[in-house]
Amino acid sequence: MNTDQFLAKSQLKPIDKASFTWQTPSNIALVKYWGKSNPQIPKNASISFTLHNCHTITTVDFARKPHSELDLESEKVVTFNLFFEGKQKDDFKPKIAEFFKRIQTYCPYIFEYKMTINSENSFPHSSGIASSASGLSAIAMCLMSLEKELCAELSTEFIHKKASFLARLGSGSASRSIEGPLVVWGEHSEIEGSSDLFGVQFPYKVHSVFENYQDVILLVDTGEKQVSSTVGHKLMINHPFAENRFKQANENLGTMSKILQEGNIKDFISLVESEALTLHAMMMTSNPYFILMKPNTLEIINKIWEYRSAENSAICFTLDAGANVHVLFPEREKEKVNEFIKNELALYCDNNQYLCDQVGVGAKMLLNERY
Ligand code: PMV
Repeated sequence: MNTDQFLAKSQLKPIDKASFTWQTPSNIALVKYWGKSNPQIPKNASISFTLHNCHTITTVDFARKPHSELDLESEKVVTFNLFFEGKQKDDFKPKIAEFFKRIQTYCPYIFEYKMTINSENSFPHSSGIASSASGLSAIAMCLMSLEKELCAELSTEFIHKKASFLARLGSGSASRSIEGPLVVWGEHSEIEGSSDLFGVQFPYKVHSVFENYQDVILLVDTGEKQVSSTVGHKLMINHPFAENRFKQANENLGTMSKILQEGNIKDFISLVESEALTLHAMMMTSNPYFILMKPNTLEIINKIWEYRSAENSAICFTLDAGANVHVLFPEREKEKVNEFIKNELALYCDNNQYLCDQVGVGAKMLLNERY
């Protein structure tokens, strides 16, 4: 695998201070990634819808360290402060420190700057929505904005590719949070340009039924995740069904590619729901085993199935590695399904909370300042 392409080019212009703000989205996988090998290489390819409203906004302020500090080669350290929603967040620091460690070969300039990271999410912190995808992709875009200033001309295509490559090293699914509306991560023979190293935009024309596809996230359990994804991925090692699952996921991605191009909504529904339940089945059959759904998750699934058959609707569900339910449906059903959610599904949510979203196009720069 050619990772050399991501080594930073030699620097041209020294910059003392810079500040960049990026808004990057969360994403929801249709064919799931669950299981990896080092360094953050997926065991199977996956595809996700990029979201629009669920996002992170991150500003990174870079201040070049004085020469006296830079000369101490032996004391090469990454120096950063982290604020989340205005408050210093030292408990998030180890994860970000580990991220910087993994990317330092590709971004050696991080040693030269004191970085102050300010981050906030558009969704409530305790919503059970993983913010690592949007959080890490936002930092990756801020780093790439600095790299663009420091190094020779970088194309937008390369910036997106490298940002996805970097984000992946922080959290696998973050590699799918740079572009949109559909991103594939993981090498796959039927997806041109796909790679284990970074996410790529789904390269084929998508049927119009999937345009502005809706995702309403029902917040069934807003507590801490029962199983972190780090632990979850590890449970796939020596899992008795793992190899078949990886094979199945790759086959499912090939099938999904055709469905997305042809617009076969019935097949889309079956595949998306089967993927969600398979992810949970893998957790139920691991050692130790976990049930990540809550009783209300099942109540909601049954209600969705009832509604689908009664109304001849194209509504379906998917799940992350938790109890919350993503309700997916075409834009043409928006009004009716939103009523159904408000009147019948919200009752099963924590404090009746849910978030209305739809597919989005990816990272957006909000501010770019350098001195
Ligand atoms: O990116 P991670 O390591 O948090 O893993 C995320 C895995 C799932 O969200 C459960 C599935 C996916 O493909 O996004």
